[in-house]
Amino acid sequence: MISSVARAADRGVYYLASPLKRGFGSIKQELEETVSKKYSIHPFKNGLDTGNVLAVTRKYLAMSEAFPYIQAGAYHGLIMRVIHQNSSISRKMEQTFVVGSFLSWDETGGNYLIREEGISALPKILDTKRHFHASYLKADLKYIWGEDIKPDYCPDTRECLVTLSRKLGSSNHLERCAMMVAFEMHAGQMIEALWKSLSRTLWLEPDRLQYFKMHVGGDDPGEEYHIQLTQKLINSIVPGSKRKEFVFLFEEGYKLNIDWCNALCKDKINRYK
Ligand SMILES: [Fe+2]
Repeated sequence: MISSVARAADRGVYYLASPLKRGFGSIKQELEETVSKKYSIHPFKNGLDTGNVLAVTRKYLAMSEAFPYIQAGAYHGLIMRVIHQNSSISRKMEQTFVVGSFLSWDETGGNYLIREEGISALPKILDTKRHFHASYLKADLKYIWGEDIKPDYCPDTRECLVTLSRKLGSSNHLERCAMMVAFEMHAGQMIEALWKSLSRTLWLEPDRLQYFKMHVGGDDPGEEYHIQLTQKLINSIVPGSKRKEFVFLFEEGYKLNIDWCNALCKDKINRYK
């Protein structure tokens, strides 16, 4: 199976073709149309050059490193509210939580290890410098730049992470779900665009960049499963009467990610250290 994200990106236009056309319903088609109308060309497709590429990759690394912690911590406020109110956990909270927990687990490399080697491989998760997805990215960046690259939690990245945390931990089920769907749909588009731009700008062999290959390359890229899983949530979380509100919240979440990428590209100074 060739990634639909990859095929679309090859044409220079982004559609979320396959996951949305597998019959999950019309809300997903509306999300696809929204993305292809408003954000068909990702900022990373044309926004990287030799002047900003190092700065962009450092900020991207910060997002990659922080995301699993942001997702893992998103439910603290929600569970504390349940505890203090002596209420109970709703099914919708459980469903967004289990998907979010999987995404965090996957980012640590745990899912891959257990899938490939079985439960006896569990102790290997302690080798975080090897198995975290951010560790794969750090290894790629070391290959590119010839030295260890530090993440840059610049003001734009900090602001984006804080907003992401608030939306992923929202008490509004629709907002939590919309942010998860938007984050994963955008991630597919962003990683693909960054992979191609890095390879083109720095004359790299794309398949040498393992982080990018594992997410959006090859015959069975991981990112597609994340997109499909978060979209599957829509069936449980979004009643027909709330469709308009959900699409609005999705657009807000998607724009948050796009605005962050645009802000990164505008920094033309190749700052380091
Ligand atoms: Fe990842």
